[in-house]
This record gives sequence, structure tokens and C-alpha cells, in this order.
Amino acid sequence: MNIPFAGASQVPETADVPRFGRNLEVLVSRSPDGFLFVDGDGRVESANDAFCRLIDAGQEGLLGLPIEAVESRLRACATPDTPWPALEELEPWKPKTTDAAASDSLMQESRDRQWLALCTPSEIILERRRLQISESPVGACVFIFRDVTQEAQVSRTKSDFVSAAAHEIRTPLSTVLGFSELLHSGQLSQEEISEFAGLIHRHATELTHLLDELLDLSRIEASGVRAFEYRRTALGPFIEFLLAGYGNNAQRQRIHVANACARDIEILADKEKLMQALRNILHNALKYSPPESPVEMDLSMVEQNGKTLVQFRVSDQGIGIAESDLQRIFVPFSRGANTRHLPGTGLGLSLARDIIRNHGGEVSLDSTLGKGTTVTVQLPAAPPPGSGQPVRRDSTPQR
Ligand SMILES: Nc1ncnc2c1ncn2[C@@H]1O[C@H](COP(=O)(O)OP(=O)(O)OP(=O)(O)O)[C@@H](O)[C@H]1O
Ligand SMILES: [Mg+2]
Repeated sequence: MNIPFAGASQVPETADVPRFGRNLEVLVSRSPDGFLFVDGDGRVESANDAFCRLIDAGQEGLLGLPIEAVESRLRACATPDTPWPALEELEPWKPKTTDAAASDSLMQESRDRQWLALCTPSEIILERRRLQISESPVGACVFIFRDVTQEAQVSRTKSDFVSAAAHEIRTPLSTVLGFSELLHSGQLSQEEISEFAGLIHRHATELTHLLDELLDLSRIEASGVRAFEYRRTALGPFIEFLLAGYGNNAQRQRIHVANACARDIEILADKEKLMQALRNILHNALKYSPPESPVEMDLSMVEQNGKTLVQFRVSDQGIGIAESDLQRIFVPFSRGANTRHLPGTGLGLSLARDIIRNHGGEVSLDSTLGKGTTVTVQLPAAPPPGSGQPVRRDSTPQR
């Protein structure tokens, strides 16, 4: 492969030039990024394997092709209906200096890049840059293609999250604003004043709840397991503490606990956070089922792949979740179509899942519309004391 890459100015005078060229050739040919070298006449001089894979073509088929023909083949791999940036708009990056130190920052400084969405041979987002090489003939250049699918997804998820959060905040906020303006007008009866003040209070409380959950989510995302303090926690007292939060009220009367495992079985838990996760799940079961109907909480031990897991199962006989909503139910702000008339942020389950995953566990949800829902949480049991296994959890942050 003839590689007119990396200005000769970067090769030290004392260097073994053929060896340097060979190293460079290996580097480019093995690069996960696609490289397409175009000569001064605008024809393909060479392409590395990664580029050929991108458009499902062989090296030979590409050599000598005009760049416009390659562009058409690339375009044919694109997702229909997505805007395709014109190649001419991709201004080449021209080095201002041949100084080697300055050339080191060449990649970062290149401002002109395009994102291309391809659907065949695989669904990916590519970033395309064009590099002009100072010593090469006029018009000769290199195109570099990098798979940025993951970056694109992260950025899309973030912007979806921000716009959903803004939307969720705006609704209670405009209610607070509207009713406070009415109160300010001073022309209301005592009854209206107390009704509107009550509404303001309710929506402000909802806002606080939403912001608390948002903060919790972002804290967990930012620091992962580092934000957790794991301690040996006996299951029996943990569940008692969880239920004690309900006092002896009507909600508590509906919760039936079936305990099929020993009270003293231990898990490694950040008690407060795990409590928050289970409370969110239990709260959903109570909230999305009729006021009189029972909620079963079933505790057991299961063996999976040689590991002992503690299983919490919360079942209700409530409104259930439509199949079309199930897939996204753990995504922040997702709510079932049948619960939109009820207050809620759609953050409780995603927060619970983040917490449970950071405990090394998993949560799943089964539901039938109109019949009921079962949420299953599995957490690893703590290693027996004196087994020599670490007491602190040590896993990577999860999302
Ligand atoms: N036990 C359940 N029965 C029926 N639907 C449920 C149940 N649990 C969750 N859901 C559905 O999943 C959605 C998301 O639940 P999640 O707990 O994340 O948010 P939320 O309950 O709407 O609000 P909050 O953040 O205040 O908990 C709910 O809006 C509801 O549609
Ligand atoms: Mg909830």
C-alpha cells in the first residue's frame, strides 16, 4: 500500500525511513478507523481494510475509482431519509505549520467533520474528516472515518433526558406560577385561597420529589458504586425496617410478607439506598392497584450459576402495564399510558434499577394489563463470615 500519510516533516532525519513507512503501513492497515487515500486527480489511491468493511467492498474494486463514485457507494449504505452532508462542504484541514509539535495536535484541531448514518452492512454512525497533506499534490487528501455510534447514542440519550426533565419540571411549575398569580390578585374568597394554596403546595412537593430523584439518578451515574457504603445487612431486620416506614396504616395492612428464607441471611447493602429502591417498587404496587387489594412480598433464596441469590418478589393485582409500554418502563420518565392521569415522575423504577445493579443485582418486571404486576429483585447473598471473600462490593458503575 502506498501511504502518503503523516508529513515527511514528522520523520526524524536520522530515522530509518523504509522502516518508518512499514510501521505506518501496519498502523493504518490495522486501524479500526477507515482510511481512504485520494490522489491529486481525485481518484482512490488506497484504502485500508476498515474502510472496505464499512462499505462492504474489496480493495481492488475501489482502486482508481473517482471519489464521486465512492461517495455514491457510501450514500447507498445510508439510512433512507437521513440528511446526507455534501462532500464539498467538508473543508480540508490544512496544516498551518510543518512544525512537528504543532502537528501532534492535528486531529484535535480539525474542525470540519461530518456525521453519516449508515444502515448497511451494519447500523452505525460514522464521523468523516478530510485531511490535506502539505507535501502531496494539490487535491490529494485522506478521508478518515471513525465509528462514533456509541458517542452519538450517549449524546442522544442525554438530550432526550434533558428535554424530558425540562418538560416534567415545566408542568408543575406552570401550575405553581398560575395559582400564585391568582393568589396575588387579591380578589379571592377564603375558600379559593385555601384551595389554591393547597394546589401550589401539592405541585411544589411534586417538583421537589422530581428534583430529588433527578439528583439521586445523576449522583449514582456520576459516581457509581463509589457513592455506596456497603455493609453486611441481615434480611429480617432490613425488611422490618422497610415495613415500619408505613406505620400501621391502611397501606401497611395490604402488604403480606411471605418469608421463605432465614431472617439472618445477609446481603451486602447500602441500607438507605436499597431501602429507597425497594420502597419505590412497593410504592408502585400499592399505588397502581385498588385501595383494598393485597400486595404480596415474597422473600426467598435462589441458586443461579453456583451463586446464592436473595430474591424479593413484589406482586400486585392492579392495573398492570400494556405490552407496548413494558420495553421502556425502566427508562427515566417512561410511564404507562394507563397511569398518565396519576401523579408520578417516571423516575422511581429507573432509580431502583440503578441502585440494584450497583449492588451487583438485577431487577425484572412482568405485567399483564388489567391483571397485575410482579417485580423481581435478585441480589447476591453476602459471603459467609470468615470465608476470606471481600466484604466490600467492588464492581464498576453501571447504568
Ligand atoms: N406495579 C405497577 N403496576 C402498574 N404499573 C406500574 C407498576 N409499577 C410501575 N408501573 C408503571 O411504570 C411507570 C414508571 O414507574 P416509576 O416508579 O418509574 O414512575 P412513577 O411511579 O410514574 O413515578 P415516581 O417517580 O413518582 O415513582 C409508572 O408510571 C407506571 O405506568
Ligand atoms: Mg413509582
